[in-house]
Amino acid sequence: MNNFTFFNPTRIHFGKGQIAKIKEEIPANAKVMLTYGGGSIKKNGVYDQVMDALQGYEVVEFNGIEPNPHYETLVKAIALAKKESVTYILAVGGGSVIDGSKFIAAGSVYDGDSWDIIQTSGACVEAAIPLGCVLTLPATGSEMNCGSVVTKASTKDKLSFKSAHVHPVFSILDPQTTYTLPKRQIANGAVDSFVHTVEQYITYPVNAKVPDRLAESLLLTILEDGPVALEDPTNYDARANLMWVSTMALNGTLKTGVPTDWATHMIGHELTGLYNLDHAQTLAIVIPAVWKFKKQQKREKLLQYAERVFALHQGSEEERIDLAIQKTEEFFVLMGNPTRLSAYGLGEKDIPAVQEKLILHGLVKLGEHGDITPKEAGEILKLAL
Ligand code: NZQ
Ligand code: ZN
Repeated sequence: MNNFTFFNPTRIHFGKGQIAKIKEEIPANAKVMLTYGGGSIKKNGVYDQVMDALQGYEVVEFNGIEPNPHYETLVKAIALAKKESVTYILAVGGGSVIDGSKFIAAGSVYDGDSWDIIQTSGACVEAAIPLGCVLTLPATGSEMNCGSVVTKASTKDKLSFKSAHVHPVFSILDPQTTYTLPKRQIANGAVDSFVHTVEQYITYPVNAKVPDRLAESLLLTILEDGPVALEDPTNYDARANLMWVSTMALNGTLKTGVPTDWATHMIGHELTGLYNLDHAQTLAIVIPAVWKFKKQQKREKLLQYAERVFALHQGSEEERIDLAIQKTEEFFVLMGNPTRLSAYGLGEKDIPAVQEKLILHGLVKLGEHGDITPKEAGEILKLAL
């Protein structure tokens, strides 16, 4: 087990009726910027619950934060936050709204050009406006981590930053807010949290039993409850389990003491930036191909995965690994996310642009061994045509 430092300051309020807790969290004299996306929260009653909890506060609204939040949109929110002297940000929505709000929180108190935040991967961030969240789409874990992914639409650059200053102070997770998710987003949430888990699990063994067994429990839960949520959208227990899974999958717990991969995410971000696939759609394509390409290096963990997650005990090692990869692909497809580039009209001709973006972004040594260069990334994508 490797050394690690673990710290997570976000307070979670989980369950029915918890949106009312906003007023216990945000100081009464705060000037609150309420940030949200394209309007789903107005249709499903979440906006009304939030506004009820915000009675008595001075509130400024900023809406229209799009999926894969655009820098061009977020700078408008930063200008508004500065003009209105906002002292608290409340993000209500999915990962895009929360990520965008992290950028707004940091950018609103940063003196220079806010794109510096991305270009320094967050190193230039010395402060941020405090942030609270009401999560409506369990997927990214952004509600309990310090990462954010922002897209500069004009150049198709999708890049991330991290800063302890943008860790949400609190996040409210009411599974009922997820009842209105379209099937596409249920699928995306399940696949994203699944892939967060395996990016921190399917590497090489270091005898770290706690994160390994936690990862296995999260994977089994997604396999069980993902299909239930698709079939029975108002099944509270399934929604609740999926919501806590997605938070746990990327709040820092799973990486304690283990190596991590993240090649799939980095390649996937380029696919989204260039070709506008949803984040989880890219992951379902890339991760099976990474495993096929890295089968030897990941052999022991793939075998552990085959045995403990899919109960595959028969056949040769090769057969068990291949079957585990196949079962993973079948699960993604069952949820609604194809595992081939061709499903989105993409082919071999579209791969060089991904490699060029990886080079441009300095993402030239990916994976737990740092040995996936843009050349290997191209080979990986060829396995997913
Ligand atoms: O904009 P609105 O109208 O709210 O609609 C959204 C959006 O169209 C809709 N939606 C959300 N909650 C809903 C709902 N529709 C009905 N009912 C609800 N309860 O869903 C659509 C997609 O939302 P989005 O926030 O884009 O999805 P997601 O949560 O999957 O976030 C994806 C973004 O997060 C980044 C991704 O790269 C992508 O940009 N990630 C952030 C991470 C992090 N901060 O740690 C890690 C992840 O790996 C990921 O990279
Ligand atoms: Zn992800």
